[in-house]
Amino acid sequence: MLVIIREDFEDMSREAGRLVAERLRRKPNLILGLATGGTPLGLYGELIRLHREEGLDFSKVTTFNLDEYVGLPPEHPQSYHHFMHENLFRHLNVDARYIHIPAGMATDVEAHCEWYEEAIRRTGGIDLQVLGIGANGHIAFNEPASSLGSRTRVKTLTLQTRQDNARYFGSVEKVPRYALTMGIGTIMEARELLLLASGEGKAEAIRAAVEGPITALVPASMIQMHGRAFVIIDRAAASRLEHTQFYSRSLEEAVIQRRNTGRPSTVDS
Ligand code: F6R
Repeated sequence: MLVIIREDFEDMSREAGRLVAERLRRKPNLILGLATGGTPLGLYGELIRLHREEGLDFSKVTTFNLDEYVGLPPEHPQSYHHFMHENLFRHLNVDARYIHIPAGMATDVEAHCEWYEEAIRRTGGIDLQVLGIGANGHIAFNEPASSLGSRTRVKTLTLQTRQDNARYFGSVEKVPRYALTMGIGTIMEARELLLLASGEGKAEAIRAAVEGPITALVPASMIQMHGRAFVIIDRAAASRLEHTQFYSRSLEEAVIQRRNTGRPSTVDS
């Protein structure tokens, strides 16, 4: 796991953008896992800028989103379909046929979840999965006590998650009670993970995920088990980390540190 601590949200977003852009330049038909919420918005802004100013090409990219609320149609302003379209896809040259987001209105939910898993498999698997983290340590909508081997399925949202997301809906009552979400097992199969977090409100979740024990009570702690996980966070989100000697300020610094300590010079874990 490589932990990179940047100054603030903008700085975190730029660093994450550099990483995603580098992977995309290396593999134009990248299979990219995407998240919603406030955290990746800066990264998405950066990708849009790179597309506009530097011609970063998304035409061959396939995307898989982590989750969607059950019962919200794609055109609902709070659906993740709508979020992705507004905040990313409509600004890029992504081919609509290559976009995948779980269908919150699926009638046969189990069959849909199986189809989603199969669709990921058919592409050869996700190359890079972007993740946010809930204040309660969730990744995607895998709430505390989710099975660490779970696959795409329906999850009941905790009250804390519904309260955290009430800001988008106007009131907690309007936040759906269920979501379709990739499982932790699904996420762990991505070849690389990129977990982002910003702000004091995420500091405890980041401490538990990065320095705490691996436990289903903090689903994000499973990233410690992944061979190629990048955790790019800002100072505020890093404020409760204790072992800062192991962390870096940039991807380059991480590479240099590894060289100096005789470890492999690639950014590898
Ligand atoms: C959304 C998702 C969630 C969010 C998390 C943090 O697709 O997977 O796990 O990443 O709830 O949300 P924000 O970024 O709004 O704080």
